[in-house]
Amino acid sequence: MTKATIPTHEETAAAADRDPAHTGSGPAAEKAGEGRRKASPKTLRLVKTLHILTASVWFGALVVVWALTASSLGDPERFLATARWTPWIFSRVLLGAALVTILIGLFYGIWTNWGFFRHRWMLLKWVMLVVLIPCTACTIGTIGTILLAAQDKGIPASVWPEAALPFALLTIQAVFLVTMVAVSVYKPRLQRRK
Ligand code: HEM
Repeated sequence: MTKATIPTHEETAAAADRDPAHTGSGPAAEKAGEGRRKASPKTLRLVKTLHILTASVWFGALVVVWALTASSLGDPERFLATARWTPWIFSRVLLGAALVTILIGLFYGIWTNWGFFRHRWMLLKWVMLVVLIPCTACTIGTIGTILLAAQDKGIPASVWPEAALPFALLTIQAVFLVTMVAVSVYKPRLQRRK
């Protein structure tokens, strides 16, 4: 049986030095730099820690809203009670974490050799982000509309089919965020785009 081998710290550092885009820093990265000052390895580690933390908060907040919505779809009273939390969670937690995650993405593009679209997996992340932004806005909008309608007309007999759209949008966001985490970890084939 073959055992998976974990590269040592020295091997990882050597690989990073051969491929400047691997870490965005190191001597080879400096040589390959495009004239702009690049972030130091220490800064990169700090930024990556923050990136993982904010991405986790974004995903965590989304999972909470998704679970609250999913668990109350069959019960209009409960659905409306939990839906009231959605704009709060989005505005107080999710949007802030998403903004910092995206700003760090910009940081990677400007101040590291990761660049913006040098790797296909990073291009995928940007494309998914472009889809995520209207999905997020639309979720808040549709849930807000359901809450307003309930205020005017009282609690409906069923929340279907109105709740189907925000629920589908929340599911898409969750799938996209999981995919973004996975491509970041696996960095598929690490090849550069021509
Ligand atoms: C479109 C904006 C984004 C860009 C440009 C971006 C860019 C990057 C880059 C370059 C790395 C590699 C850092 C390194 O290894 O030194 C990274 C790591 C990571 N990203 Fe993003 N990111 C973005 C958005 C996101 C989002 C939305 C999530 C998930 C919610 C996410 C989750 C992660 C995770 C978990 C890692 C760590 C992977 C690992 O090192 O094992 N990123 N990101």
